[in-house]
Amino acid sequence: MYNSQHLKAIWQWHLDIGTDALVSEKAVDLTKTPVCKFALSNIKHNPLHREAPMKSIPPLSPQSLLNPQAVAQAAQTTVEACQTLEELRNALQAFNGCPLKNTATNLVFGEGNPNADVMLIGEAPGADEDRLGRPFVGLSGQLLDRMFATIGYDRTKFYITNILPWRPPGNRQPTLAETSACLPFVERHIELVNPKVIVLVGGTSAKTLLNRQDGIMRLRGKWLDYQTSRMAAPIKAYAIYHPAYLLRSPGQKRIAWQDLLALKVVLDKMLL
Ligand code: URA
Repeated sequence: MYNSQHLKAIWQWHLDIGTDALVSEKAVDLTKTPVCKFALSNIKHNPLHREAPMKSIPPLSPQSLLNPQAVAQAAQTTVEACQTLEELRNALQAFNGCPLKNTATNLVFGEGNPNADVMLIGEAPGADEDRLGRPFVGLSGQLLDRMFATIGYDRTKFYITNILPWRPPGNRQPTLAETSACLPFVERHIELVNPKVIVLVGGTSAKTLLNRQDGIMRLRGKWLDYQTSRMAAPIKAYAIYHPAYLLRSPGQKRIAWQDLLALKVVLDKMLL
Protein backbone atom coordinates (compact mmCIF):
# COMPACT_ATOMS: atom_id res chain seq x y z
CA MET A 1 0.00 0.00 0.00
CA TYR A 2 1.21 3.50 -0.75
CA ASN A 3 1.05 6.11 1.97
CA SER A 4 0.81 9.82 1.25
CA GLN A 5 4.59 10.21 1.34
CA HIS A 6 5.03 7.53 -1.32
CA LEU A 7 2.39 9.19 -3.47
CA LYS A 8 4.07 12.56 -3.03
CA ALA A 9 7.43 11.07 -4.02
CA ILE A 10 5.90 9.46 -7.12
CA TRP A 11 4.22 12.74 -8.05
CA GLN A 12 7.49 14.63 -7.56
CA TRP A 13 9.34 12.08 -9.66
CA HIS A 14 6.89 12.57 -12.51
CA LEU A 15 7.35 16.33 -12.25
CA ASP A 16 11.15 15.93 -12.19
CA ILE A 17 11.21 13.90 -15.38
CA GLY A 18 9.02 16.47 -17.07
CA THR A 19 5.71 14.72 -17.52
CA ASP A 20 3.97 17.97 -16.66
CA ALA A 21 5.45 19.37 -19.86
CA LEU A 22 3.34 16.91 -21.83
CA VAL A 23 0.11 17.76 -20.09
CA SER A 24 -1.97 20.52 -21.52
CA GLU A 25 -5.58 21.53 -21.44
CA LYS A 26 -5.89 20.73 -25.13
CA ALA A 27 -5.26 17.11 -26.13
CA VAL A 28 -2.51 16.45 -28.68
CA ASP A 29 -1.87 12.98 -30.07
CA LEU A 30 1.90 12.80 -29.86
CA THR A 31 1.90 9.24 -31.18
CA LYS A 32 1.19 10.71 -34.61
CA THR A 33 4.48 12.61 -34.56
CA PRO A 34 7.17 10.16 -35.67
CA VAL A 35 9.74 12.89 -36.01
CA CYS A 36 8.59 14.07 -32.70
CA LYS A 37 7.35 17.54 -31.92
CA PHE A 38 9.73 18.92 -34.55
CA ALA A 39 7.32 18.22 -37.38
CA LEU A 40 4.40 19.60 -35.46
CA SER A 41 6.02 22.78 -34.41
CA ASN A 42 3.26 24.89 -35.88
CA ILE A 43 0.72 23.39 -33.55
CA LYS A 44 0.31 25.57 -30.48
CA HIS A 45 -0.95 22.84 -28.21
CA ASN A 46 -0.57 25.03 -25.18
CA PRO A 47 -3.45 27.48 -24.77
CA LEU A 48 -1.13 30.02 -23.18
CA HIS A 49 0.81 30.51 -26.41
CA ARG A 50 0.08 33.90 -27.88
CA GLU A 51 0.22 34.47 -31.59
CA ALA A 52 2.91 37.03 -32.33
CA PRO A 53 2.95 39.37 -35.28
CA MET A 54 5.06 37.69 -37.93
CA LYS A 55 7.98 39.90 -38.69
CA SER A 56 10.40 37.17 -39.73
CA ILE A 57 10.66 34.46 -42.34
CA PRO A 58 7.87 31.90 -42.82
CA PRO A 59 7.91 28.80 -40.57
CA LEU A 60 10.41 26.08 -41.41
CA SER A 61 9.00 23.07 -43.23
CA PRO A 62 9.06 19.66 -41.48
CA GLN A 63 11.98 18.61 -43.72
CA SER A 64 14.01 21.72 -42.90
CA LEU A 65 13.37 21.17 -39.20
CA LEU A 66 15.33 17.95 -39.42
CA ASN A 67 18.34 19.77 -40.86
CA PRO A 68 20.29 21.65 -38.14
CA GLN A 69 22.06 23.80 -40.73
CA ALA A 70 18.78 24.90 -42.27
CA VAL A 71 17.45 25.70 -38.79
CA ALA A 72 20.56 27.72 -37.89
CA GLN A 73 20.39 29.57 -41.23
CA ALA A 74 16.71 30.40 -40.73
CA ALA A 75 17.44 31.66 -37.22
CA GLN A 76 20.28 33.80 -38.54
CA THR A 77 18.14 35.31 -41.30
CA THR A 78 15.36 35.95 -38.82
CA VAL A 79 17.50 37.77 -36.26
CA GLU A 80 19.19 39.94 -38.86
CA ALA A 81 15.81 41.51 -39.57
CA CYS A 82 15.33 42.45 -35.90
CA GLN A 83 16.26 46.00 -34.95
CA THR A 84 14.62 46.16 -31.52
CA LEU A 85 14.10 43.86 -28.54
CA GLU A 86 10.37 43.84 -29.25
CA GLU A 87 11.01 42.65 -32.80
CA LEU A 88 13.36 39.98 -31.48
CA ARG A 89 10.76 38.80 -28.98
CA ASN A 90 8.13 38.61 -31.72
CA ALA A 91 10.52 36.78 -34.02
CA LEU A 92 11.24 34.22 -31.28
CA GLN A 93 7.51 33.76 -30.69
CA ALA A 94 7.11 33.01 -34.38
CA PHE A 95 10.24 30.83 -34.72
CA ASN A 96 9.50 27.11 -35.00
CA GLY A 97 13.08 25.82 -35.24
CA CYS A 98 13.46 24.75 -31.61
CA PRO A 99 11.19 21.92 -30.47
CA LEU A 100 11.33 23.08 -26.85
CA LYS A 101 8.75 25.66 -27.81
CA ASN A 102 6.19 22.90 -28.12
CA THR A 103 6.56 21.63 -24.60
CA ALA A 104 7.09 24.97 -22.86
CA THR A 105 4.26 26.94 -21.31
CA ASN A 106 5.72 30.38 -21.95
CA LEU A 107 8.51 32.04 -23.83
CA VAL A 108 11.00 33.44 -21.32
CA PHE A 109 12.57 36.32 -23.18
CA GLY A 110 14.44 38.56 -20.77
CA GLU A 111 13.90 41.36 -18.31
CA GLY A 112 15.61 44.11 -16.39
CA ASN A 113 17.07 47.32 -17.69
CA PRO A 114 17.39 47.11 -21.49
CA ASN A 115 19.85 50.02 -21.41
CA ALA A 116 22.08 48.40 -18.79
CA ASP A 117 25.83 48.10 -19.18
CA VAL A 118 25.74 44.67 -17.57
CA MET A 119 23.85 41.72 -19.04
CA LEU A 120 23.50 38.37 -17.27
CA ILE A 121 22.97 35.26 -19.38
CA GLY A 122 21.88 31.97 -17.81
CA GLU A 123 21.14 28.58 -19.26
CA ALA A 124 17.41 27.96 -19.61
CA PRO A 125 14.17 28.58 -17.76
CA GLY A 126 13.13 26.16 -15.04
CA ALA A 127 9.60 25.32 -13.93
CA ASP A 128 8.90 28.65 -12.18
CA GLU A 129 10.28 30.69 -15.06
CA ASP A 130 8.27 28.63 -17.56
CA ARG A 131 5.10 29.17 -15.55
CA LEU A 132 5.59 32.94 -15.19
CA GLY A 133 7.42 33.72 -18.45
CA ARG A 134 10.19 35.52 -16.52
CA PRO A 135 13.88 34.62 -16.18
CA PHE A 136 15.45 33.58 -12.89
CA VAL A 137 12.43 33.86 -10.62
CA GLY A 138 12.70 30.45 -8.89
CA LEU A 139 15.01 29.46 -6.05
CA SER A 140 18.20 29.82 -8.04
CA GLY A 141 17.02 33.18 -9.40
CA GLN A 142 16.38 34.40 -5.89
CA LEU A 143 19.90 33.38 -4.90
CA LEU A 144 21.28 35.12 -7.99
CA ASP A 145 19.41 38.31 -7.03
CA ARG A 146 20.86 38.10 -3.51
CA MET A 147 24.37 37.51 -4.88
CA PHE A 148 24.17 40.60 -7.08
CA ALA A 149 22.49 42.67 -4.39
CA THR A 150 25.59 42.15 -2.23
CA ILE A 151 27.69 43.90 -4.87
CA GLY A 152 25.12 46.64 -5.41
CA TYR A 153 23.34 45.40 -8.55
CA ASP A 154 19.67 44.62 -9.06
CA ARG A 155 17.40 44.25 -12.09
CA THR A 156 17.18 48.00 -12.51
CA LYS A 157 20.94 47.97 -13.11
CA PHE A 158 21.31 44.82 -15.19
CA TYR A 159 19.43 42.98 -17.91
CA ILE A 160 18.95 39.22 -17.70
CA THR A 161 18.17 36.48 -20.19
CA ASN A 162 19.08 32.86 -21.01
CA ILE A 163 20.71 30.91 -23.81
CA LEU A 164 17.41 29.07 -24.30
CA PRO A 165 14.12 30.93 -24.07
CA TRP A 166 12.08 27.76 -23.47
CA ARG A 167 12.27 25.28 -20.64
CA PRO A 168 13.77 21.86 -21.45
CA PRO A 169 11.30 19.27 -20.07
CA GLY A 170 12.22 18.21 -16.56
CA ASN A 171 15.04 20.79 -16.58
CA ARG A 172 17.25 18.39 -18.49
CA GLN A 173 20.50 19.60 -20.06
CA PRO A 174 19.83 21.38 -23.38
CA THR A 175 20.90 19.45 -26.47
CA LEU A 176 23.37 20.80 -29.01
CA ALA A 177 20.55 21.07 -31.58
CA GLU A 178 18.52 23.22 -29.16
CA THR A 179 21.38 25.56 -28.27
CA SER A 180 22.45 25.89 -31.92
CA ALA A 181 18.90 26.76 -32.99
CA CYS A 182 18.62 29.45 -30.31
CA LEU A 183 22.18 30.82 -30.40
CA PRO A 184 21.53 33.43 -33.15
CA PHE A 185 18.71 34.84 -31.00
CA VAL A 186 20.81 35.25 -27.88
CA GLU A 187 23.64 36.75 -29.96
CA ARG A 188 21.22 39.31 -31.38
CA HIS A 189 19.81 39.87 -27.91
CA ILE A 190 23.30 40.82 -26.72
CA GLU A 191 23.83 43.10 -29.73
CA LEU A 192 20.54 44.91 -29.13
CA VAL A 193 21.08 45.41 -25.41
CA ASN A 194 24.65 46.41 -26.26
CA PRO A 195 26.14 45.99 -22.76
CA LYS A 196 29.75 46.67 -21.82
CA VAL A 197 30.00 43.43 -19.87
CA ILE A 198 28.22 40.09 -20.12
CA VAL A 199 28.14 37.81 -17.08
CA LEU A 200 27.86 34.19 -18.13
CA VAL A 201 25.90 32.41 -15.44
CA GLY A 202 26.99 28.76 -15.38
CA GLY A 203 28.81 26.34 -17.64
CA THR A 204 26.28 26.08 -20.48
CA SER A 205 26.16 29.82 -20.94
CA ALA A 206 29.96 30.18 -20.76
CA LYS A 207 30.74 27.29 -23.08
CA THR A 208 28.07 28.21 -25.62
CA LEU A 209 28.83 31.91 -25.91
CA LEU A 210 32.60 31.61 -25.66
CA ASN A 211 32.56 28.58 -27.96
CA ARG A 212 34.87 26.71 -25.60
CA GLN A 213 35.01 23.10 -24.49
CA ASP A 214 36.43 23.94 -21.04
CA GLY A 215 34.14 23.48 -18.09
CA ILE A 216 32.97 26.28 -15.81
CA MET A 217 35.73 25.47 -13.28
CA ARG A 218 38.27 26.65 -15.84
CA LEU A 219 36.25 29.49 -17.33
CA ARG A 220 34.95 31.12 -14.15
CA GLY A 221 36.55 34.23 -12.67
CA LYS A 222 38.42 35.23 -15.84
CA TRP A 223 37.96 38.29 -18.03
CA LEU A 224 37.50 37.10 -21.59
CA ASP A 225 36.52 38.76 -24.86
CA TYR A 226 33.17 38.23 -26.51
CA GLN A 227 32.26 39.36 -30.02
CA THR A 228 29.65 38.42 -32.61
CA SER A 229 30.27 38.84 -36.32
CA ARG A 230 28.15 42.02 -36.32
CA MET A 231 29.83 43.70 -33.35
CA ALA A 232 32.42 46.38 -34.16
CA ALA A 233 34.57 45.52 -31.13
CA PRO A 234 34.65 42.84 -28.46
CA ILE A 235 33.02 43.32 -25.09
CA LYS A 236 34.10 41.78 -21.79
CA ALA A 237 32.72 38.44 -20.64
CA TYR A 238 33.01 37.03 -17.12
CA ALA A 239 31.75 33.58 -16.13
CA ILE A 240 30.46 32.68 -12.68
CA TYR A 241 29.06 29.54 -11.06
CA HIS A 242 25.37 28.98 -11.64
CA PRO A 243 23.30 29.62 -8.48
CA ALA A 244 21.57 26.23 -8.94
CA TYR A 245 25.03 24.64 -8.59
CA LEU A 246 25.68 26.71 -5.48
CA LEU A 247 22.40 25.54 -3.97
CA ARG A 248 23.51 21.94 -4.56
CA SER A 249 27.13 22.56 -3.52
CA PRO A 250 27.16 25.30 -0.87
CA GLY A 251 30.87 24.65 -0.26
CA GLN A 252 31.55 26.42 -3.57
CA LYS A 253 29.93 29.65 -2.39
CA ARG A 254 33.28 30.90 -1.10
CA ILE A 255 34.76 30.81 -4.62
CA ALA A 256 31.57 32.34 -6.04
CA TRP A 257 31.86 35.15 -3.52
CA GLN A 258 35.49 35.82 -4.51
CA ASP A 259 34.43 35.93 -8.17
CA LEU A 260 31.64 38.38 -7.37
CA LEU A 261 33.99 40.67 -5.48
CA ALA A 262 36.46 40.61 -8.37
CA LEU A 263 33.58 41.36 -10.74
CA LYS A 264 32.48 44.29 -8.60
CA VAL A 265 35.95 45.86 -8.63
CA VAL A 266 36.01 45.91 -12.44
CA LEU A 267 32.35 46.89 -12.87
CA ASP A 268 32.72 49.78 -10.46
CA LYS A 269 35.78 51.04 -12.31
CA MET A 270 34.37 50.46 -15.77
CA LEU A 271 30.88 51.77 -15.22
CA LEU A 272 31.18 54.61 -12.75
N1 URA B 1 18.25 28.80 -14.41
C1 URA B 1 18.63 29.47 -15.51
O1 URA B 1 19.71 29.25 -16.04
N2 URA B 1 17.81 30.40 -15.98
C2 URA B 1 16.64 30.69 -15.42
O2 URA B 1 15.94 31.57 -15.91
C3 URA B 1 16.28 29.98 -14.27
C4 URA B 1 17.09 29.04 -13.78
